[in-house]
Amino acid sequence: KYAQSAQSGPLRDRIAYHGKHQLLSVDQFTRESVEDLFRIADQMQPIARRQKVSRVLEGAVLGNLFFEASTRTRVSFGAAFCRLGGSVCDTTGFTFSSMAKGESIYDTSRVMSGYVDAMVIRHPEKGSVAEFAQATNIPVVNGGDGPGEHPSQALLDLYTILTEFSRLGKLLDGAHIALVGDLKYGRTVHSLIKLLALYRGLKFTLIAPRGLEMPDYLLEETGKQGHTIVQSSSLEEGLVGADVIYATRVQKERFAAEEIEGYTPDFQVNKAIVDKCCGPDVIVMHPLPRDSREGAHDLSVDLNHDTRLAIFRQTDNGIPVRMAIFAVLLGVEGLVQHSLRDV
Ligand code: CP
Repeated sequence: KYAQSAQSGPLRDRIAYHGKHQLLSVDQFTRESVEDLFRIADQMQPIARRQKVSRVLEGAVLGNLFFEASTRTRVSFGAAFCRLGGSVCDTTGFTFSSMAKGESIYDTSRVMSGYVDAMVIRHPEKGSVAEFAQATNIPVVNGGDGPGEHPSQALLDLYTILTEFSRLGKLLDGAHIALVGDLKYGRTVHSLIKLLALYRGLKFTLIAPRGLEMPDYLLEETGKQGHTIVQSSSLEEGLVGADVIYATRVQKERFAAEEIEGYTPDFQVNKAIVDKCCGPDVIVMHPLPRDSREGAHDLSVDLNHDTRLAIFRQTDNGIPVRMAIFAVLLGVEGLVQHSLRDV
C-alpha cells in the first residue's frame, strides 16, 4: 500500500510548520511523510473501531473552536481525541465566543493555550488559522480556513484512495482523477490536488461550471510537477476512464448567487453517468456534506447502494487519520502500540 520510507526522525519534526508542531497546510508533507502518517492511521484502526482501547492522551484536553458550520470535522476530531483517552471542550459559532464582543484572534489563541493542549480551528477567512497558530506554541490544526485549505480532509481523502486502490489492486501513480464541481471555493480540492501531486504521472480532469474553475496557481504548481491537466465543462467527456471521481458541493455561502449561472444538473454525478463513463472499479468520493436541497446537483442519492460509492468509507476514515494527526503532533505515536488493551 505504501512505498518504503527512508526518512528518519520524529514525524512531527519532519512536518513542522515554521518549527512548530502544527498542521496548517498539506504543503508540510512529502510523499514519505504522508505515508508515514498513514502507517500510524492503520495502527489506529482497531482503536477507532473500538476493538482495542488506548488512553495515551489521558489528561489532555482539546479545544475545538469552530466559527463556521461543521458536522464531520468537529465531531470526528473530538471523537478521535476521546478515543485516545483525552477530553474535548467545544465552542461553535461566533455568537457563543467572546469574538462576538470584539476579542482578537491573538488574544483568543493566547487564552486558549492556557486551557487546552491542542486546538482545532475552523474559521471563514483564509489565513485566519495561521494567525491563531502564530500566537501559540501548542499544536494547532486547520479545520478549514474559508476557501483556503482543509488539510485533514485531504489527508483522509488520500488515505481512502490508497486503501481503496489497495483493495482493487491498483496503483495511484499514473491514475486518472476527476475533480468535479466548485473547484474555485472548495478548499478540500485545493488541499487534495496538492497531496495527490506528490505521486507520479497523474491525469487530472477538472470539471467545473464557468466561473468556478480551479485557481491558476494550483494549475501551475500541479503542471510543473509533471502531471497532465485537462479542463472540461462536460461531465460526460471528463469522466471517461476515471479511476476516482471526486464530486464537491457548490460553496454557495462564499459568493453571490448570480456567479453560478451555468451550474446545471449536467454537473451532477449520478448512477447513469457513472455507468456510462466508468468501469466497475471506479471510486466515487465527496468530502460531504452533499447538498440535498432543491436546485443542488452535486452527488445523487441514487448511488447510495452502489459499492463504488466510497463516501461513508471516507467519513469513517476520518477517525483513524485524525487520531494519527493528534498522536504525531502531541508526540505519543510511539506509545500507542504499547498502550493497547482489549475492550
Ligand atoms: N467535510 C467536511 O469538512 O464536513 P463538515 O463541514 O461537516 O465538517
